[in-house]
Amino acid sequence: MTNPTILLTGATGYIASHTWLALQAAGFNVIGVDNFSNSSPEVLSRLERIGTLRPEFVQADVCDASALDAVFAGRRIAAVVHFAAHKAVGESTVRPLAYYANNLGSLLNVCQTMQRHCCKTLVFSSSATVYGKPERLPIREDAALATTSPYGATKLMGENILRDLEKADPTWAIGYLRYFNPVGAHESGLIGEDPRDTPNNLMPYVSQVAMGKRARLQIFGNDYDTPDGTGVRDYIHVLDLADGHVAALRYLLDGKGSITANLGRGRGHSVLELVRAFERASGCSVPFDIVSRRPGDIDACYADPTLARLALGWQGLRDLDAMCVDTWRWQRLNPNGMAG
Ligand code: WQD
Repeated sequence: MTNPTILLTGATGYIASHTWLALQAAGFNVIGVDNFSNSSPEVLSRLERIGTLRPEFVQADVCDASALDAVFAGRRIAAVVHFAAHKAVGESTVRPLAYYANNLGSLLNVCQTMQRHCCKTLVFSSSATVYGKPERLPIREDAALATTSPYGATKLMGENILRDLEKADPTWAIGYLRYFNPVGAHESGLIGEDPRDTPNNLMPYVSQVAMGKRARLQIFGNDYDTPDGTGVRDYIHVLDLADGHVAALRYLLDGKGSITANLGRGRGHSVLELVRAFERASGCSVPFDIVSRRPGDIDACYADPTLARLALGWQGLRDLDAMCVDTWRWQRLNPNGMAG
């Protein structure tokens, strides 16, 4: 029997590129599609160096129906992992139409193309952002859903579209993976998060301050209802996240039905804890100022990861120190990201 072929959209992005390696290591054939709107072709040569196999890749926009049709034609694709999306929360409030058009347009096109080619197994990159301001911690999958940004709305609407699709045609098997805060990098230091502009997220910002690329970190508020007053989040190593996709695909391909799962560790860490862990990992200091809260931020957010452990046999094993060590290696070896 030949190994199943998995199509990754947004394949050269941060989470997808790590998942590509995990799938290869698990024996899947992988084909990637990306338009490089927020990633670099250099990722492909890095993947080849790490994984030894030349990655099979098509440069295309997944909003383009005929381009995606051409990818499916002549191949037996067993499942799709749909990563491709715009993902900056702040930008989504400035360019809502672009976010709705891209994130929902690509999802609709992916599903319609899959349907035409009788491929009905899909993993959807959702986000903890669908929980909005959680009423109870840790957050279980059956918690109330609400969003506070156009980006978050595209993820929740994406889930709703897929749930309607499953209702209409129960032969679909869909994995809704709600990521908490992905950080870290491959231990080779060859691939990692590669923000084009000023990072929006905490970990890449901290690593650029440690490197001396940026002068100081701004900590957005120290008056939250948390042990040290700074925001608490559930950071998850991208390599663990990648393994979560492999586990979800196995579950779906084994015919166990659809699943909605939190991919987090279930541990909350504050901004100050992360800064201290990064200083230990890098041996560099991370100077910071406490500034006012960032609009839309919440006190604390962390997962109840029980469902993923029981149903998928998956858990986030790498701790905050490992996340910082791996981020730092990637940052040090690639001071200017993939480009330099
Ligand atoms: C973490 C903590 C900040 C930057 C966002 C999206 C979410 C998901 C992950 C997408 C908070 C604080 C941050 C800084 C700081 N994305 N902070 N100074 O906001 O939990 O989640 O990214 O799929 O949808 O909303 O992550 O890394 O931005 O912030 O003090 O310069 O760090 O206030 O407490 P967040 P983050």
